[in-house]
Amino acid sequence: MQQIKQYVEQNKQRFLDELFELLRFPSVSADPKYKQDVLKTADYVAQKLKEAGADHVEICETAGNPIVYGEKGSDPGKPTILVYGHYDVQPPDPLELWETPPFEPTIRDGKIYARGSADDKGQFYMHVKAFELMVQQGNLPCNVKFMIEGEEEVGSSNLGIFVKANKERLKADVVLISDTSMISMEHPSLETGLRGLSYLEVEVTGPNRDLHSGVYGGAVANPATILAKMIASLHDENNHITIPGFYDDVAELTTPERKALNEAPYDEATYKADLGVDELWGEKGYSTLERTGTRPTLEVNGIWGGYIGEGAKTVLPSKAYAKISMRLVPDQHSNKITKLFTDHFKKIAPKSVKVKVTPHHGGEPVVTPTNSVAFKAAQKAITESFGKAPIPTRGGGSIPIVALFEAELGIKTVLMGFGLDSDALHSPNEKYDIVNYYKGIETIPLFHKYFAELSDTWRL
Ligand code: BES
Ligand code: MN
Ligand code: MN
Repeated sequence: MQQIKQYVEQNKQRFLDELFELLRFPSVSADPKYKQDVLKTADYVAQKLKEAGADHVEICETAGNPIVYGEKGSDPGKPTILVYGHYDVQPPDPLELWETPPFEPTIRDGKIYARGSADDKGQFYMHVKAFELMVQQGNLPCNVKFMIEGEEEVGSSNLGIFVKANKERLKADVVLISDTSMISMEHPSLETGLRGLSYLEVEVTGPNRDLHSGVYGGAVANPATILAKMIASLHDENNHITIPGFYDDVAELTTPERKALNEAPYDEATYKADLGVDELWGEKGYSTLERTGTRPTLEVNGIWGGYIGEGAKTVLPSKAYAKISMRLVPDQHSNKITKLFTDHFKKIAPKSVKVKVTPHHGGEPVVTPTNSVAFKAAQKAITESFGKAPIPTRGGGSIPIVALFEAELGIKTVLMGFGLDSDALHSPNEKYDIVNYYKGIETIPLFHKYFAELSDTWRL
């Protein structure tokens, strides 16, 4: 541990400079206008992996953004860790709400402000630097494979194809990912589950053209009003989702499981104050931690239609739209939920409008084991570097590829995230604490060490 700390201390500034360089690439995967920047980011990641000591570094082309692959070691006597991360980021909008530009990383109050600082550049880059440290110290207890992709924020569909086509190359004993949150530096935690996702877009069409809202208003259904009503009807007075069959496959937690989950530190007043809300909202009968970690949800991510420019224009719009996501939990399936939503949404539409539902991406929920060698190694590593055992929690976010790693490669994942929920992921002023960045770099080599040690004992 002392040697690890020393190496980090000596290379502190360079570790930060390199991350800053990575953060300056606007590698937004959702918008094709950033394609060249995305490609440059992949080049940079590949170069840094090489410099850190990885062999066979390759920029693997896909039908979309490239995947950066690299590895070191093929000792059959050592276990193999597959490190997954993503170098793409969410769009930075709304730009005017950023205190400093999203792609000019800036330190304020010990935190790095930039799009991607926590999600996921700052987090996957800790693995590159921890790997460099182990190579430099001549102490690589496990074989390591890196797979850093550029389409996580748009559903990882090309990575899915890559994984299916490269099963031999990706063979490993565990997938290690830092792309989730922990509770706080005082309360380190390990996420033991991720929600799935079904994301779709709806279009409601009323009259065949925009109309004068005075001449026609009152005689023709306004698709914006109809859409608002239809959306509002998707939750009942207890905030349960009203789509028939929606909860059919939801695995209820046992009483001890619920109890354990609710033992995680959570302060409602702090939570509300951080978000600037006076009251929380959610499914009746469940706590906030349960609502975000173990219950499925339905959210409007965007809703629009009609005139949204400056000033006032009197118009009855022809069309209204919404982007809707549903977060899924075991044992729901995204395709089934997408179909249930589509059928229901069409059914509740009045005859005055036409409804079109277009599915976007999906992903399946996962629960990671807590009795595995890998999970124990992560617990040991965190306990040693934080001086406290990690609390198991359930994450509300989604990383669709995790379920696929399990289904296609048969490999389970450890979610060893060092971000915080308050890091403003996907929001303006995303940040990552420098302390968490260094702490991650110090903790990762301990994971490698304990994973090798515990795998060894287990084999005997
Ligand atoms: N890193 C996040 C997921 C996450 C964040 C999990 C915090 C747990 C805690 C990931 O980059 C992400 O944002 N995923 C998307 C899904 C994707 C298909 C767009 C999400 O959860 O919305
Ligand atoms: Mn992420
Ligand atoms: Mn994300």
